[in-house]
Amino acid sequence: MHGWMIPPPKEPTKSKRDLERERTAKVSWLVESGYLKSGRIKQALLKVSREDFIPRLYRDYAYLEVPLPLPGEHATISCPHSYPLFYEPLGLDEGHRFLEVGLGSGYGTAVAREVVGPRGLVVSIEIDPVTLEFAKRNLAKAGYRDMVLMQGDGGLGYPEASPYDCMAVTAACVEIPPPLIEQLCIGGRLIAPVFEGDTQNLTLLEKGIKGIQRHIICEVLYVSLRGTYGA
Ligand SMILES: C[S@@+](CC[C@H](N)C(=O)[O-])C[C@H]1O[C@@H](n2cnc3c(N)ncnc32)[C@H](O)[C@@H]1O
Repeated sequence: MHGWMIPPPKEPTKSKRDLERERTAKVSWLVESGYLKSGRIKQALLKVSREDFIPRLYRDYAYLEVPLPLPGEHATISCPHSYPLFYEPLGLDEGHRFLEVGLGSGYGTAVAREVVGPRGLVVSIEIDPVTLEFAKRNLAKAGYRDMVLMQGDGGLGYPEASPYDCMAVTAACVEIPPPLIEQLCIGGRLIAPVFEGDTQNLTLLEKGIKGIQRHIICEVLYVSLRGTYGA
C-alpha cells in the first residue's frame, strides 16, 4: 500500500501479557491524543484483543500505527487510531443500529458490537470472499455470534435491516453511495473517506429533516472501494 511503511512479516514472539500491556498503553495514548473521548468506545477498545484479528506473521505489530495486510485482495486492518477517529464523530453508542462497509479483519465490527451492546445491531458487508472468511473465523473464535456478516457490494447497503443510526465506510469512495444515504435514519450519521482528486478526506455526513450536511474531518489514506460505487 502506498504511503505506509508496512513492517516485514515475522514469527510472533510477544506473549498475550505483552500484547495486553500494549493495548492498555495504546488506549491511554488515544485518550491523551484527543482521539478517544467516549467511555463506551474506550471500554470496547480495552476489551477487544486486536492481535486476534491479525494474521500470525503480523501479530506482534498489532498496536503499531500502521495498517496491516489481510488475506484477500487489497484488504487491510486499519491503524488503531482509525477506530475512534471514525466512531467518535459518528457518536456510536448503546442501542444503535450500525452498518459497516468493509469488514476486513472483523476487528472494527467487534469494537462496534461492544459499543452498541445487546440492544443494538451490527451489520457488516465485505466484498472479498477470502477476507470475509478470515473475519468470520476471527469473530467466531473471539465469541461474537450475534452480528449480520455477509458477502456483497457494501455500496448497496443492506436495506432489509435499515434504517441505521450510524454507518462507517472503511474504503475510499468517489462519492458517498446514494443507497447508503437512503438507508440512514433521520438524525443518522455516516462516515467515509472520500476522494478529492488524489487526496482522501474523511467525511462525516448527517441526515436531517431539512437535508444532508457534510463536514470534512481530516485527510486519510484508505484502500479504494470496489463495486458499483468503486473508485
Ligand atoms: C481498510 S479495510 C477494512 C478494515 C476493517 N474495518 C477492519 O477493522 O479490519 C477495507 C475493506 O473494504 C473492503 N471493500 C472494498 N470495497 C467494498 C465494497 N464495495 N463492499 C464491501 N467491502 C468492500 C475491502 O475488501 C477491505 O476488506
